[in-house]
Amino acid sequence: MSDQGVIGVGIIGFGIVGQGTYSILRDNAETIERQVGRPVRVVSVADLRTELLKEKLDPNVRASADAEALIRDPDVHIVCELIGGVNPAGRFVRMALEAGKHVVVANKELLAKQGPQLLELAEKNSADFYFEASVGGGIPIISPLRIGLAGNQIEKIIGIVNGTTNYILTRMSGEGGSLEDVLREAQALGYAESDPTNDIEGYDARYKITILASLGFHARLNVDQILCEGISGLKATDVNNARDLGYNIKLLAVAKRTPDGIEARVHPALVPLSHPIASVSGVNNAIFVTGDAVGDIMVYGPGAGGMAAGSAVVGDIVEVSRNIVSGSNGRLKTLEFRDLPVQATGDIVCRYYARMRVEDHPGVLAAIATQFGDCDVSIASMVQKTAEDGVAELVFLTHEVKERDIQEALERIRQLDDVDEICSVIRVEE
Ligand SMILES: NC(=O)c1ccc[n+]([C@@H]2O[C@H](COP(=O)([O-])OP(=O)(O)OC[C@H]3O[C@@H](n4cnc5c(N)ncnc54)[C@H](OP(=O)(O)O)[C@@H]3O)[C@@H](O)[C@H]2O)c1
Repeated sequence: MSDQGVIGVGIIGFGIVGQGTYSILRDNAETIERQVGRPVRVVSVADLRTELLKEKLDPNVRASADAEALIRDPDVHIVCELIGGVNPAGRFVRMALEAGKHVVVANKELLAKQGPQLLELAEKNSADFYFEASVGGGIPIISPLRIGLAGNQIEKIIGIVNGTTNYILTRMSGEGGSLEDVLREAQALGYAESDPTNDIEGYDARYKITILASLGFHARLNVDQILCEGISGLKATDVNNARDLGYNIKLLAVAKRTPDGIEARVHPALVPLSHPIASVSGVNNAIFVTGDAVGDIMVYGPGAGGMAAGSAVVGDIVEVSRNIVSGSNGRLKTLEFRDLPVQATGDIVCRYYARMRVEDHPGVLAAIATQFGDCDVSIASMVQKTAEDGVAELVFLTHEVKERDIQEALERIRQLDDVDEICSVIRVEE
């Protein structure tokens, strides 16, 4: 194939995703050229680990630690920012867009915090700005939201968007074991980072649902307004109880359109075993979207890994390259991002699972039921799990109730003399 008119790619950050992207562009060069009509090649890579670059890159690829020089390089038409974080990644992205370069990123944190501003900057400079790998790793979801589902009013997005926590929950559900033990094992296998806070506490999933809700509902969202609870407090007992009741516990990222704005939240939830999301196992991700025209769709697949995320990055590079060939960069117009209010946590309506330890006396159940009733919390079912040494463990499932009402009820129940402990409260997503 022709060597004329090479479309030059510059990669900033040669880590897991950078290396996956590089090897896909090299190994599938012919397939990619056939689809674009011109060769697409990595011409320059910048990473702080220059020794690694010397070892891994073909000799004709420029290698340095200087990301700004890569952006200024006239042979680089598409800049891939694959460092992660907001700084200096955001500075590099802005510098590239202001120089009229097209940009591809995999950076959920940057997108969640500055996405609308960066899309506006790209449009101002007639540049492309693509970010498929920022959510769902190798699963296409950004492009479906921007293109394939563009004719829909998106009503709901529910996803398992963090592979680390899904692996942990799958193991806890399958073989039992405490969160601590399973986490240690996940770290040994490379499925969890040595500092797992971002995954375990739900922050990673919150970045991702911010991006999805922003695109789905054409809204400017503040990531800090989104309710975020991770799985760090989850007990093996609750995972087992959930299964007995016909549910799996999953870390869900949820965004819904409401009459007044948007409901958005990240938290562990009981999901009925009959729902396709309940059977998503291991490090896989799945995202379930409801559009008013299409109905329900679900995308599923590997949510992380250098080759999976690299696949999404290269998909974006191919699309940008096609735009270069046809002279249509910037054709995906920036959305009209609106400032839609995010529903206050107290107004969220959900079903709940609550486990508590109480003195095994006559009248305790009636006292608890009274507090629930006084706070407008209707009980769907109650199971007594154990009764040892005069202490009983009770599990309640409620009907739909407002968050502020159940919190008020639980606070009152906690004050009852015969209630030793409210052990767990977990939302149920039907
Ligand atoms: N890993 C995945 O499965 C996955 C999936 C989807 C999306 N993503 C996203 O992809 C991005 C990259 O993730 P990753 O897992 O590939 O990270 P990574 O393995 O840590 O790679 C990042 C690389 O960037 C280098 N770097 C840091 N600052 C730099 C600078 N100023 N100039 C040049 N290079 C610099 C790092 O070098 P040092 O190590 O020396 O700092 C490292 O080699 C992140 O936004 C992440 O959220 C990752």
